[in-house]
Amino acid sequence: MKVAVVGATGLVGTKMMQVLAERNFPVTELLPVASEKSVGKEVTFKGKTYKVIGMQDAIDAKPNVAIFSAGGNTSLEWAPKFAAAGITVIDNSSAWRMDTTKKLVVPEINASVLTPEDKIIANPNCSTIQMVVALNPLHSKYKIRRLVVSTYQSVTGTGKKAVDQLMNERNKVEGDKAYPYPIDLNVIPQIDVFLENGYTKEEMKMVNETKKILQDDSIRVTATAVRIPVMGGHSESVNVEFENDFDLDEVKEILSNSSGIILQDNLKDLIYPMPLWAHEKDEVFVGRLRRDETQENTLNMWIVSDNLRKGAATNAVQIAEYLASKNML
Ligand SMILES: NC(=O)c1ccc[n+]([C@@H]2O[C@H](COP(=O)([O-])OP(=O)(O)OC[C@H]3O[C@@H](n4cnc5c(N)ncnc54)[C@H](OP(=O)(O)O)[C@@H]3O)[C@@H](O)[C@H]2O)c1
Repeated sequence: MKVAVVGATGLVGTKMMQVLAERNFPVTELLPVASEKSVGKEVTFKGKTYKVIGMQDAIDAKPNVAIFSAGGNTSLEWAPKFAAAGITVIDNSSAWRMDTTKKLVVPEINASVLTPEDKIIANPNCSTIQMVVALNPLHSKYKIRRLVVSTYQSVTGTGKKAVDQLMNERNKVEGDKAYPYPIDLNVIPQIDVFLENGYTKEEMKMVNETKKILQDDSIRVTATAVRIPVMGGHSESVNVEFENDFDLDEVKEILSNSSGIILQDNLKDLIYPMPLWAHEKDEVFVGRLRRDETQENTLNMWIVSDNLRKGAATNAVQIAEYLASKNML
């Protein structure tokens, strides 16, 4: 199994190699790929060093699968070239997510939509993944009508430059900026660019991707996405209105028994999800479950997950695992 990791010098690409190794994905040959400026640089995988190669060399090496985390433009330009060479692409950027000819996959929810003909498969946005993992089992039982979500997102979601900006500010060192404002000791209510309707692209990703993954256009979603000076993962406050009434104990039981979810909801011992605890974990953590007392059939939840793992690398590797298990690679 030849595996290309495109964006191997970046935050997600680095985590991707770590997750491939941890989960013992049967890699026989690793091809770390990045931009021309990084060709020849070394990366480590399972204790061995590998030299970074360029995009065309990666295609020529004919990997079974190429996991892309190198930005939308790189994916738009290169994923079709990999696919044309018969290589399955799992793409972490937003380039293909809303393309009606491409599948948008969270394995716990909809891996079964994949077929051997799917050569470019989209990995959803990190904040969407953790939200739908937590919501899907409840949607199946009570049917979601409307979601109001506010996010508290880690700087790791922006990439290396943003982590450097936070640490530079903390250490009072000058450097490149990923954000238009200081991030340390601040909160920035903007993630990605603003659109005509006043929402950001990140907010609309949550709206549109949620409907596509849950295969239900009737779900109404409204989002506010916020960057905070945190590293371990993204947090989300989600207000969920269901069509049917629920029992809080049953909600807890459903979540506890669902794959990929860990319930952390013990107020007596002050147990609730936090990025500090979700960091370097593959699961989605859910807590602060309580009835919205202002409206019928409505639940408040707090959802936390490591955006570089379940929000990116782990989800992509799980897709690759599913494809491999079905002999689709
Ligand atoms: N961070 C997250 O939580 C997260 C979650 C989900 C999805 N994503 C997506 O994953 C992608 C990467 O994010 P990141 O946080 O890892 O960013 P990053 O740390 O800035 O890394 C970007 C990577 O892309 C490579 N790259 C850039 N331009 C390229 C080109 N023209 N050809 C080949 N490689 C190129 C870079 O290589 P060089 O070092 O050579 O420039 C680097 O390896 C983005 O599309 C992002 O939206 C990120």
